[in-house]
Amino acid sequence: MQTKRIRDILRHGQPDETIIIQGWVRTTRQLKEFTFMEVNDGSSMGNLQVVIDVNIPNYNNVIKTLNTGSSVEVSGILVTSLGKGQRIELKASSVQVYGDANPETYPLQKKRHSFEFLRTIGHLRSRTNTMGAVMRVRNACATAIHNFFQERDFLWVHTPIITASDCEGAGELFTVTNFDLNKIPRNKQQEIDFDKDFFGKRAYLTVSGQLEAEVMAMAFQNVYTFGPTFRAENSNTSRHLAEFWMVEPEMAFCDLQGDQDLAEEFLKYIFKYVLETCPEDMEFFNERIDKSVLETANNIINNEFERITYTEAVKLLEKADKQFEYAVEWGIDLQSEHERYLAEELFKKPLIVTNYPAAIKAFYMRLNEDQKTVAAMDVLAPKIGEIIGGSQREERLDVLERRIAQMGIISDDLWWYLDLRRYGTVPHAGFGLGFERLVQFMTGMGNIRDVIPFPRTPLSAEF
Ligand code: 4AD
Ligand code: MG
Repeated sequence: MQTKRIRDILRHGQPDETIIIQGWVRTTRQLKEFTFMEVNDGSSMGNLQVVIDVNIPNYNNVIKTLNTGSSVEVSGILVTSLGKGQRIELKASSVQVYGDANPETYPLQKKRHSFEFLRTIGHLRSRTNTMGAVMRVRNACATAIHNFFQERDFLWVHTPIITASDCEGAGELFTVTNFDLNKIPRNKQQEIDFDKDFFGKRAYLTVSGQLEAEVMAMAFQNVYTFGPTFRAENSNTSRHLAEFWMVEPEMAFCDLQGDQDLAEEFLKYIFKYVLETCPEDMEFFNERIDKSVLETANNIINNEFERITYTEAVKLLEKADKQFEYAVEWGIDLQSEHERYLAEELFKKPLIVTNYPAAIKAFYMRLNEDQKTVAAMDVLAPKIGEIIGGSQREERLDVLERRIAQMGIISDDLWWYLDLRRYGTVPHAGFGLGFERLVQFMTGMGNIRDVIPFPRTPLSAEF
């Protein structure tokens, strides 16, 4: 007999097949001659209905331990279901309970729990319908990302988590230390030189793998990273995490135009893949979380993104029939309210904003002819705001050195990065996609803490 996943049984199972399933009990309903039990094994939104006849071995003992949350293995035969709601069900010939779950204390009972409550039981919440669907869609997004780049001959490169460079220059770094403060007496702690924390050197958790991805692109042409990144920004919003995953393609011999084209093609590809591989989960989000999820997905796949410059965006915002909290004028960094107005209300689809003022962007972005703007691009999504940030990189050594000096960055730390411009420099471009923001966009989930299994924010990092 074969152990099967419930997703496959629900999709393709046929009467008379004998099978084994393993999973966790969602509900039970005891009648005189049978007990009905719904089992979920994480493979799908749907549960498998199991019918347990009073004549199976050990019936009374088994039933006593079959609670919501109990882990079970069931062998039996598939039969056409006469009841409503399912095509097929499993008639059990034997049921083994591995571990029961005390209904007095098990927190996940058969009712809707708020996401706030579920965050307090992060170790159990993946057993709920919503978190199950989120994790499967998250997995599908990650698979789509690898497929997309692998099909296009991009090399997946592994950039370091511990690094000395502050890629974004925003000062949002977590310091990495090998000092164990517990072993250093309090009165000596003031003497610690926090610049030499990491075995006598300075080190941080990476905010972005981009600079190292540029190193790799200068040898392999097209590369991408996909890994965790860290930001010590004290933002408790529904869009920010202290630890999030980022996908960063970097392309040699590519300009801002190619960068925008790739970003658009990339998002379309991921949405298409997820709709095809997770139809039930996407249907669930559309019904239960946000009624526009499927429409948004189809909209992204079938329509071209809007593309405007920062200067045009500012003009549109100034003309908007709307009072913004943060006043708009040329030179400001667009705030989330501005980004959302443009994507959500004005264009009603993703838009790419390019050529931002140099003064508000990172040192590595390529200076435009006007000497005022840089070849940057942000992809803004309805409901989310910025989902991708990228640029063409400054490949000219002299211009880059001038920019670094102007911004007061210590160029000694970037000697290796400058070497890339000294030896065989080429125009190149790339971007970073916030992976959790993508999953939020895909599922309509309101809070970024609910699209990552173990969220780390200033207020929560339970374990
Ligand atoms: O715009 P950012 O800061 O760009 C970079 O880090 C570049 N080095 C990327 C590149 O060109 N290779 O971050 C990129 C994306 C943002 O657009 C956003 O989606 C996401 O990362 N992001 C966050 N996601 C969750 N929590 C946070 N605190 C985030 N900060 C940025
Ligand atoms: Mg950005």
